[in-house]
Amino acid sequence: MGRAAFGCDGAVGPVERAVEIPPFLAMDVMAEAAALERQGRDVVHMEVGEPDLPCDGHVVEAGVRALRDGRARYTVTEGILPLREAIAARYAERYGVEVDPERIVVTTGASPAFFLVWGALLDAGDEVLIPDPHYACYPGQIAFLGGVPVRFPLDVHRGYAFDLDALRAGIGPHTRAILLNSPSNPTGTVASRDELRALAELASRPGGPWIVSDEIYHGVEYGPERADTMLRWNPDAFVIDGFSKRWRMTGWRLGWVVLPQAFVRCVRKMHQNYFLCASEFVQHAGMAALAGPQDSVAAMVATYDGRRRRLVDGLRRLGFRIDYEPAGAFYVLAGAEHLGDDSVEVSRRLLREAGVAVAPGADFGPAARTALRFSYATALDRIELGLERLAAVVGADR
Ligand SMILES: Cc1ncc(COP(=O)(O)O)c(C=O)c1O
Repeated sequence: MGRAAFGCDGAVGPVERAVEIPPFLAMDVMAEAAALERQGRDVVHMEVGEPDLPCDGHVVEAGVRALRDGRARYTVTEGILPLREAIAARYAERYGVEVDPERIVVTTGASPAFFLVWGALLDAGDEVLIPDPHYACYPGQIAFLGGVPVRFPLDVHRGYAFDLDALRAGIGPHTRAILLNSPSNPTGTVASRDELRALAELASRPGGPWIVSDEIYHGVEYGPERADTMLRWNPDAFVIDGFSKRWRMTGWRLGWVVLPQAFVRCVRKMHQNYFLCASEFVQHAGMAALAGPQDSVAAMVATYDGRRRRLVDGLRRLGFRIDYEPAGAFYVLAGAEHLGDDSVEVSRRLLREAGVAVAPGADFGPAARTALRFSYATALDRIELGLERLAAVVGADR
């Protein structure tokens, strides 16, 4: 029903902001794959950023127990104190960084945390510097709330590391924030401590931009470089994290944001108005994830590491261009120029002809326009099958 039906001055249909928000193309691929599966086709899924390994049994038990105990009511908007204390304890234990639980707001996943942060930070026309390539949803999230995403290039010759000169050159009078994401989606690059320190220095000048750090893939690292929290270098950073990836809880919808003190009250008010609170029993499951044994996280990382090596090697043999070693998260961004200029078309072709679903690079910014993002959060035998099917379609010798 259009707006005119409600007497809105003849204006019909959704407003520009809603029409203009870009799609998350990987989700579109997933929808097309599901349609093929309904017709009986088998599809190897490497398009979505969703861990295939199950969430821990003790986490499920804690959630079920909480539900049985009637813990399915509203909580305080910022999330129950024991959960926020457990999150603060994680910063102390893992990074040796003090975080006041009062600065934490528990959200229904990391995604709504972005809504809160941009809602609290951006006036119309304020710019946010985002890396290129970047997580698909960043530009849409920023623009939807009136901000302007401004991309800065990463250094492709150094495995998509931060190019501090390019970043410095991008800072202008309207720059309100710098967004970083390490380990990165879609490249899997892990920022070094030196890079984080240098980024923090850029923000520390009077009137300098805020830093927003998406740390959702922390703990999923394969090399010697362990992702460090931006809070060490910039205590006033906005840090967004959650339970989806590390603890394999995508569908539970639980995350958090650590805020600079001055933003706590307004973000809580936004959260009250838009989300009320995260589910109570899910918050209890989150406490179990934080407090319980972490060996399944280490086992998951070891499993992903084996898949990563196999996939990267297999894709290179098929002629995909991968000039770096992805060191974190569970993605590899592979150049696919040899298959065509339009990654949306290429991914569609691979899905239809090979039964292999991959995310088109176009999702992740101009720098990834002709690339494809492969997720290896899928079983090794499925990765093998995917490589075989790709070989048949792209015609190279493995
Ligand atoms: C970089 C990045 N940030 C945030 C999210 C959103 O995660 P959540 O499930 O917690 O909303 C994702 C999900 O894929 C992601 O890859």
